[in-house]
Amino acid sequence: MIRTLVAFLILTFYLACSASEDALTARYEVHIVDDLNDAVNNLTVHCQSGDQNIPYRYLHPHEDFYFGFNLQIFNKSLFFCHFWWAGRQQTFDVYNKSYAQKCLRHDQDTNTCYWSVRSDGFYFANYPLPPLSSYWQKVYDWQ
Ligand SMILES: *[C@@H]1O[C@H](CO)[C@@H](O)[C@H](O)[C@H]1NC(C)=O
Ligand SMILES: *[C@@H]1O[C@H](CO)[C@@H](O)[C@H](O)[C@H]1NC(C)=O
Ligand SMILES: *[C@@H]1O[C@H](CO)[C@@H](O)[C@H](O)[C@H]1NC(C)=O
Repeated sequence: MIRTLVAFLILTFYLACSASEDALTARYEVHIVDDLNDAVNNLTVHCQSGDQNIPYRYLHPHEDFYFGFNLQIFNKSLFFCHFWWAGRQQTFDVYNKSYAQKCLRHDQDTNTCYWSVRSDGFYFANYPLPPLSSYWQKVYDWQ
């Protein structure tokens, strides 16, 4: 009887842990796509989080630069990027808590946030391919 109870408790504990682990290790990818169509000036991108410094990247037309991470406990992941192009610049959070839902994907395990960098500003979408990718939303202008 005690044995059965102990086995039951261990099983319950194991199931509870693996379920919460799934929720806590949700995988995300942030994609920065150079849609500037500028063959002369590169797009320079520097992304960071509290504990990660991603090296500077110089993107060419249509290049898709991305990085992935597992959602931190309590949903605290935060990445911000600084962008430079042709004498202009901008800085913003490419991923924070408010994107946890916006970047959810139901068709695959990795959730995706897409940022399309264009000459008139920065556009966000959840999916890379049509028809859903037509829902690009402009979020920022260049400064
Ligand atoms: C990209 O452009 C910047 C600014 O014009 C320049 O400093 C840098 O050397 C370029 N890098 C590459 C890899 O082309
Ligand atoms: C992260 O936080 C956001 C905003 O509060 C919430 O909508 C989302 O469901 C959370 N995601 C996870 C995996 O906890
Ligand atoms: C998340 O980032 C966006 C900009 O990309 C910003 O408007 C918003 O205030 C940020 N939210 C939090 C919780 O920091």
